[in-house]
Amino acid sequence: MIPTETVELIHQTAVIEDVVGDYVELKKQGSSFRGLSPFTNEKTPSFYVVPSKGIFKCFSSGKGGSLMTFVMEVEKVNYPEALKIVARKYNIEIVEKERTAEEIQAETARESMGNAVSWASKWFTEQLETETGKAVGKSYFSSRGFRDDIIEKFKVGYCPEGWDTMAKAAFDAGYNEEILMEVGLCKKKQDGGMFDFFKGRVMFPIRDVTGRVIGFGGRTLKTEKKIAKYFNSPESPLYNKSKVLYGIHLAKAAINKEDMCFLVEGYTDVMAMHQSGVENVVASSGTALTVGQISLIKRFTKNVTVLFDGDAAGIRASLRGIDLLLKEGMKVKVVTFPDGDDPDSYSKKVSSSELQEHVTAKAQDFLSFKADLLSDGTGDNPIKKAEMVSALVETIACIPDPIQRTVYVQAIAARLKLQEKLLQSEVAKKVAQEITKEQKRGVKDYVLEATQIFQEGQQGASRRLRTKRSLLEDNLVRLLLEHGESILKIETSSEEDEEPIEADVTFAELLMHRVETQSIVMEDPTTEFILSRFRDSLDEGEIPATESFFNGTSQDVQQKAADMLVSKYNLSENWEHKHHIFPIKEEDILEKALSSATVRIHLHDAQRNIDLLLEKLESGDCSDDEESRLVREKITLDKKVMELTKVLGVVILP
Ligand code: CTP
Ligand code: MN
Repeated sequence: MIPTETVELIHQTAVIEDVVGDYVELKKQGSSFRGLSPFTNEKTPSFYVVPSKGIFKCFSSGKGGSLMTFVMEVEKVNYPEALKIVARKYNIEIVEKERTAEEIQAETARESMGNAVSWASKWFTEQLETETGKAVGKSYFSSRGFRDDIIEKFKVGYCPEGWDTMAKAAFDAGYNEEILMEVGLCKKKQDGGMFDFFKGRVMFPIRDVTGRVIGFGGRTLKTEKKIAKYFNSPESPLYNKSKVLYGIHLAKAAINKEDMCFLVEGYTDVMAMHQSGVENVVASSGTALTVGQISLIKRFTKNVTVLFDGDAAGIRASLRGIDLLLKEGMKVKVVTFPDGDDPDSYSKKVSSSELQEHVTAKAQDFLSFKADLLSDGTGDNPIKKAEMVSALVETIACIPDPIQRTVYVQAIAARLKLQEKLLQSEVAKKVAQEITKEQKRGVKDYVLEATQIFQEGQQGASRRLRTKRSLLEDNLVRLLLEHGESILKIETSSEEDEEPIEADVTFAELLMHRVETQSIVMEDPTTEFILSRFRDSLDEGEIPATESFFNGTSQDVQQKAADMLVSKYNLSENWEHKHHIFPIKEEDILEKALSSATVRIHLHDAQRNIDLLLEKLESGDCSDDEESRLVREKITLDKKVMELTKVLGVVILP
């Protein structure tokens, strides 16, 4: 249990745009921030943070809410875990209260796995300071030229030889066999016992974007070819390899600043780059690049420079990664190193400034790089040349932006002395192929929907066109949240002949009064909840604070409140532009907006009742008496609709 005071401190300290900024590249826009949604693969930013309200809203996924909701969503954690993540960011220490047996049990699997690997990471680091640790582990890093500050920065460590040195320490610290096996720190022996999986290896802790340890890479100190150079933690609910990039935690600020990310292969490459003063670097850790990893980079930048080591086999394999980067809309450059060097080995041969110079000045456009690579040894062989063209066409077709594609077509046509038109049409064909592949499913859905609408007939179609009641209710909530505090002057008089008295009321009071006197019932439970919060507060003579919709309320409520408040921001921006065009007194607008909102609901309900009547009449299974009653009812409703429509015409906003 996290003590209440600590929870409060975390809430007070945390700044929403800072926390969200760790995951999303935010650009200031007026009084809010805007960026690409971390929840979808959107290409145009529709993700907003409104600091003054302490909320975020993502229009492409529909998610919205407070800072903690955001962390819970993006990290896929529960509330206490989200609190801890935010606390860690602000160096707020959490001294947990003594936990009950139930609370310990309730701790999620992920959390306990996280605790185990965090503990192990600390323990491995401490081992670097023991006598053998110094002689074996630390000296390994030093012999490879890593400075102490870099060893410390990456919190690398050492797992001692011996079958269960770590396991014993883990038991002493309160971790059981089960959890150690789950996170892959221990493995079962043939005889049923357990052993330390990483024994005798130097350890690279792997962290997520917030800096939490989620797994390890362990490098052998032996040079025998038979032994796998690296052991890695297994996949688990904690460690999802396809969404992890080594070093992202230390790189994100620099990536943001440079608006570019270097992509290398290995753990040591990342460390070497830092040692040479380059911090915007992450490693794919030897596996083929995944969409998940690319999305992680995309939170911070669209520009990637891939650093290849010299060997040709590696390069060919990595070319696929480039196509994927392009498909995801990234701008890609490539740097190679001479004679089989990787960034780490190269950095040991040159000065820091020479390395920096190499990775920036030598960065080559990915396509000319690929062309260079493929033209190696092609000569004038026409078959080879054709193969090369089709390989290049394939890559150009990966680029989502048509203008960029054209630029590349021109460059390649010039370089290979090909007709531009021809190349362009080849690329177009390839793009079309890809699109059909992707859209086939989408088209099926569309046809299905169209058929349904057709079968429902016109009646159905007209029903479909009508605004949903929930949207009309939303409109009321929006008005309430937006303008609840505005003061309106209203004229009241209790007796016919008495002088009317002017009175000040809040807009919230007026709205609730109208809703009650007109017996408008909210059908959407979320809307009803928000209204009831207002009702309760107004009874106490207060307007509910915005935060009260975000603390301890359901996801639905938070989302709706965020929706309304963000649209407030957007609308008010528009208002400012329009202000010169119609300078209207706020009071006039609010009165009219409220009337229009309530009338619309009445109109909706009347029309819905007519629909129901018609359905009954058309079904044919009612008696003559019933039928004439229904027809009379319909006439009354039709009249009502006409009246309401007239009223709406009068009150509707300019
Ligand atoms: N890798 C792995 N398992 C292996 C070999 C490599 O998981 N058996 C991963 C590691 O993440 C490694 C990356 O692939 O960092 C790149 O491999 P490699 O270039 O062979 O290793 P380096 O990082 O260069 O390690 P070192 O410099 O110590 O040789
Ligand atoms: Mn290396």
